Amino acid sequence: MLPALIRDQLTSIVGETRLLLGSDDLQRYGIDRTTLWQAAPCAVVLPATVEEVRAIVLLAREHGLAIVPSGGRTGLSGGAVAKDGELVVAMDRFDKILEFNPLDRSITVGAGVVTAQLQQFAGRQGLLYGVDFASSGSSQIGGNIATNAGGIRVIKYGMTRDWVIGLKVVTGAGEILELNKGLAKNNTGYDLRHLFIGSEGTLGIICEATIQLARPTLQASVMLLAVNEFAVIVDVLQHFSAGLELSAFEFFSQSALEKVIAHRGHAAPFQAVAPFYALLEFEPVDQAVVDKAMQLFQHCVDQGWVLDGVISHSVAQAQNLWKLREDISETLWRWQPYKNDISVRISRMPDFIFQIDQLVARQYPDFEVVWYGHIGDGNLHLNILKPECLSLDQFQAKCVNVSNEIGQLLAACGGSVSAEHGVGLLKKNYLHYSRSAAEIAIMRGIKSTIDPDQVMNPGKLFD
Ligand code: MLT
Ligand code: ZN
Repeated sequence: MLPALIRDQLTSIVGETRLLLGSDDLQRYGIDRTTLWQAAPCAVVLPATVEEVRAIVLLAREHGLAIVPSGGRTGLSGGAVAKDGELVVAMDRFDKILEFNPLDRSITVGAGVVTAQLQQFAGRQGLLYGVDFASSGSSQIGGNIATNAGGIRVIKYGMTRDWVIGLKVVTGAGEILELNKGLAKNNTGYDLRHLFIGSEGTLGIICEATIQLARPTLQASVMLLAVNEFAVIVDVLQHFSAGLELSAFEFFSQSALEKVIAHRGHAAPFQAVAPFYALLEFEPVDQAVVDKAMQLFQHCVDQGWVLDGVISHSVAQAQNLWKLREDISETLWRWQPYKNDISVRISRMPDFIFQIDQLVARQYPDFEVVWYGHIGDGNLHLNILKPECLSLDQFQAKCVNVSNEIGQLLAACGGSVSAEHGVGLLKKNYLHYSRSAAEIAIMRGIKSTIDPDQVMNPGKLFD
């Protein structure tokens, strides 16, 4: 419940229509894609200017009110969940493209601009924003930056971090900072921009971002391969990436494919049924590149790694193959999956796959495990489906054990408990498997400096 005094002050900052108190709005804005927590914010506020954001943060400091910054709420780790009476600061009204500079190939956008809007704008200018993921139709740039979103083309385009050349933020102390100012070269001490990227709303609110755009590429060709066993996916990857410049190398298990076909009405890609599938993408620059791709495919077949394959011959075919991979996440929600988003270095992947596969089979033979992910950049999504016979709480309790064992394995392999989804509420108890006590202490120190009253997204990342 929002005290009347604070409600009046918020109204005077943003106006009555931009302070939302109705239960539908509180529900909608108080949750991300996770299903483990109940939304319970005290209010939702929709500022439209940086000054309004600043006034809101100062008000929050004065009254000790916690803030949850909110973008497209497509997150998968509870980073945008407001479950404890927080004030949600939704950035929907920062939805403008503010400046485009063709010479710099840069664009400055409000934090509430949707990823697809940025991609389409770049396309109309003959340029490219190469970071892409299934939720690009609703995720907002501010949220992508706050979580350093990755996605399906990281092997070619990197993470969100690699394209952010400037940020305007309001810190938890209520200061407005303009970070890096769009410069390509700027060696003037600590790069605070990179602290905000991936900070999951714990340091301040990202209001505007300047993004470097890339030169466009040709329409890519997509190949889908039926792979004989988990262990050889990395062999297929190594073989293809030695011979071709890949822009994506994804994988998924038969159970993922089965579910996508059954629930999305997609056609089966070929008759062969294999335990795993690899989806790869490359630019067919000339016939020699296409011939090379076919040779690499044939070698994989000769080795017994690949049982069957298909290559796209049109944009529509490429898109249809991508749907088999991109629709998995959405399809699985009905099973309330317990999601792991883990990574190791590619060179460690064969050993890691062997060990994690054994761990899951040994400890959880009764659970249905659906694998998919961005194996080209060492990122596996291990989704454990909730059996109908278990309540959500019982299921979660069992999965915590899985996560601890996976965490130990990751620590031994130098891996990460969150490759791209972020830590949020979901993985804060496992952070120590990837980050040392000294690192976490430094992170806490940074937070206290930038957000002295701990108003920014408390309880996320760490307690
Ligand atoms: C994906 O790779 O599909 C996304 O990270 C979402 C997910 O893991 O469910
Ligand atoms: Zn992913």
